[in-house]
Amino acid sequence: MQQPLSSFKGIMPTIGDGVYIADSSRLVGEIKIGADSSIWHMVAARGDVNYITIGERSNVQDGTVLHVTRKSAGNPQGNPLIIGDDVTIGHKCMLHGCTLGNRILVGMGAIVMDGAVVEDDVFIGAGTLVPPNKRLESGYLYVGNPMVQKRPLKENEIAFLKQSAINYVELKEEYLAEAE
Ligand SMILES: CC(C)(COP(=O)(O)OP(=O)(O)OC[C@H]1O[C@@H](n2cnc3c(N)ncnc32)[C@H](O)[C@@H]1OP(=O)(O)O)[C@@H](O)C(=O)NCCC(=O)NCCS
Repeated sequence: MQQPLSSFKGIMPTIGDGVYIADSSRLVGEIKIGADSSIWHMVAARGDVNYITIGERSNVQDGTVLHVTRKSAGNPQGNPLIIGDDVTIGHKCMLHGCTLGNRILVGMGAIVMDGAVVEDDVFIGAGTLVPPNKRLESGYLYVGNPMVQKRPLKENEIAFLKQSAINYVELKEEYLAEAE
């Protein structure tokens, strides 16, 4: 079977302790994944023209695509993709050259575009489009295409952001145990 990790220009992904990576995913090049995170089936991540970092206890669910933007004269740093700790990225999302803080849930099928910044404790509804360079304020629900700030998150929803990450840490432990 093909290995999920491969190098690009001599740089291999760096994987922290206790990380689960599904066999069917594909991670290439300059990618750093923090401890206890999980990468689920059919995820495609390319750290080729810039880098990708994923923090600790974050999960990237099935069919999600992660990519970055190259450096250019008009954009000297390009757009790396930076994902913080305890982040849940639902099924079939597209995250491109954006920055996500901690305890965020990106709903299924959402698209987050270059230069967007998502502050800590944000819920992005399923199917939401976050246009380039937008800033999503901590403590709010965003939905729609293009997104709107729908309402402040309730206390139980803020608690769920962390709980969702815990659920996926527990689930990946079960998958790692199966693989032994
Ligand atoms: C956003 C979400 C949490 C809404 O939850 P909710 O408590 O039912 O929301 P509300 O009842 O406060 O609805 C707010 C409004 O947004 C609308 N809405 C809800 N989800 C929406 C979405 N994803 N996109 C656009 N509009 C949405 C509702 O229809 C409602 O509209 P109205 O005010 O005109 O009636 C939920 O619909 C969602 O998208 N969850 C994501 C789940 C997911 O993808 N998990 C990751 C995989 S494990």
